[in-house]
Amino acid sequence: MEITVLKNYSELSSTIADIVEKTIQDDLYDLEKRELTKFILPTGSTPLGLYEELVKRKLDWGMVTTFNLDEYIINPNHEQSYHTFMRKNLFDRIDIYPGMCNFPDRNTQAYEDKINEIDLCILGIGTNGHIAFNEPGSSFDSETRVVDLDEQTIEDNSRFFDSVDDVPKQAITMGLKTIMKSKKIVLMANGVHKYKILNVAMNGGITEKVPASILQKHKNVEVYYCD
Ligand code: PGA
Repeated sequence: MEITVLKNYSELSSTIADIVEKTIQDDLYDLEKRELTKFILPTGSTPLGLYEELVKRKLDWGMVTTFNLDEYIINPNHEQSYHTFMRKNLFDRIDIYPGMCNFPDRNTQAYEDKINEIDLCILGIGTNGHIAFNEPGSSFDSETRVVDLDEQTIEDNSRFFDSVDDVPKQAITMGLKTIMKSKKIVLMANGVHKYKILNVAMNGGITEKVPASILQKHKNVEVYYCD
């Protein structure tokens, strides 16, 4: 699969923001389309520049609904919850109806059932090849569910917490099958520490040991990388 290499993080962020903006604009002017524009959104360090760029662009979010990829088993008001992350970095800074911003909770089947006709899914990739919290070994048939986090993920995410012991050990995540239902998928990766796994996932064997490798089976995926 082609990996588009961009000059720097700023270009990575603005390139993905262009795709988001075009998706919103195309839907607004598509008189046939009666549905809301539906996005699946990630958290983590990688999309921070994208969200900053989207805030600056002052887009019309009135017909948009979002679904976050995952959330820790944690109080949603905790400062490191993904609810808090999204409010702080995007939702509180754009004109989106709070009721349109969806997060997975323990009622996993209800969340799964809501995820249909997704126009654009934006993903990051973990250093172990995970997408959302689908850790290595996750079934390609997986749906939204509660999962145990991989040791590597706990280690990687400990930078956001006081200590590694404070990182939640479980999370709720969309499944790989859930993600694959999206009409279009964009994966963004930033940093040399991601390049090896990105290349393995996109150009190596398709295997549940590397969850992101499932994307090779999707017809409409774009992959963007910068050092
Ligand atoms: P990161 O996480 O953007 O913080 O590197 C990506 C991921 O684990 O999916």
